[in-house]
Amino acid sequence: MTEQDFVPSPYEHLIPQGKTSWRSPSNIALVKYWGKLANQIPANPSISFTLNTAETITSLDYKLRKKGSEGFSFDLRFEGKPKDDFKPKIETFFHRIATYLPFLTQYHFEIDTHNSFPHSSGIASSASSMAALSLCLMELELALYPEMDENYFFKKASFLARLGSGSACRSIKGPIVEWGHHKGINNSSDLFGTLYKGEVHAVFQNYQDTILLVDKGEKKVSSTAGHALMHNHPFARERFAQAHENITRLTSVFKDGDLDLFIQVVESEALTLHAMMMTSLPYFILMKPQTLVIIEKIWAYRTATQIPVCFTLDAGANVHVLYPERDRDKVLQFIKNELVAYCENGQYICDQIGYGSKKV
Ligand code: DP6
Repeated sequence: MTEQDFVPSPYEHLIPQGKTSWRSPSNIALVKYWGKLANQIPANPSISFTLNTAETITSLDYKLRKKGSEGFSFDLRFEGKPKDDFKPKIETFFHRIATYLPFLTQYHFEIDTHNSFPHSSGIASSASSMAALSLCLMELELALYPEMDENYFFKKASFLARLGSGSACRSIKGPIVEWGHHKGINNSSDLFGTLYKGEVHAVFQNYQDTILLVDKGEKKVSSTAGHALMHNHPFARERFAQAHENITRLTSVFKDGDLDLFIQVVESEALTLHAMMMTSLPYFILMKPQTLVIIEKIWAYRTATQIPVCFTLDAGANVHVLYPERDRDKVLQFIKNELVAYCENGQYICDQIGYGSKKV
């Protein structure tokens, strides 16, 4: 498919008004997207677990504007209050997707959004929020084209979400989503995320992700700025090639359930992501001392108990602790006994693999 396939034919009629609501989960990348080309095209493929509990719930009220209205018209409420500082992000998003949803200038929108996770917990909300908003907009497009096929609906929602925030395209479906062209994955595309259809071993069913909130502050360097630093990065070419190889390795891990190899790929990806940040120019560090203490403690616990628990990181100091459901009680006890002390205000979120966005 190409971008052109997402440009609709002219609408025959516009409905006067309506309301829709979607909930979209966050996702955690196992192989990381870090570096992009123009128009939100990823420099390398990535693959993620869709989460279940950490989610954004968005409702969209739409009302037809007077004929000939120009520009975009919308109001935004976040957790019940007007949130003007989020508006530029939505405005940019609308500009990027206007070719694919020409109705955007013809409606006034009331966007109401809230997260299930604590406000400014430092966990990425752009993925879940852009996914939920894209699905609401697709719901309006579906009302205009009731014959639209379901497959196209979700593909285009992912395509739009990607234009809002790259990783958001992996939050439409679940439990495992791949984004970016990869020779070993059928129908993989740089334009949208694809539900992973390969064989997946039972050990990954309900795989757990406990998110340790190490630092809830605003990030010093945004993901968007970090991606840009991969241009002319001395290790970029090797890094992009490595991501392709790591996806190949994960496809065999998913099939065989080889958790030793899973741990190796996932932890190496997390540390490589941060190594890319540390070797950018300007260089920067998003981990905190507590992040490193937690990593050391996970390694010591794994060696002592042989329980296959591992960590991954996103673009921040928080630590995602990943482990099979069968080890849940033991690992949660370990987290309470040894890791919670390093979380800001002792906060952490218990989550697990989930099945993607849902209409409310
Ligand atoms: C480290 O998707 O937040 O979480 O496309 O600029 O919005 P933009 O970036 P974003 O980057 C996510 C980076 C990451 C890795 C990942 O999720 O794959």
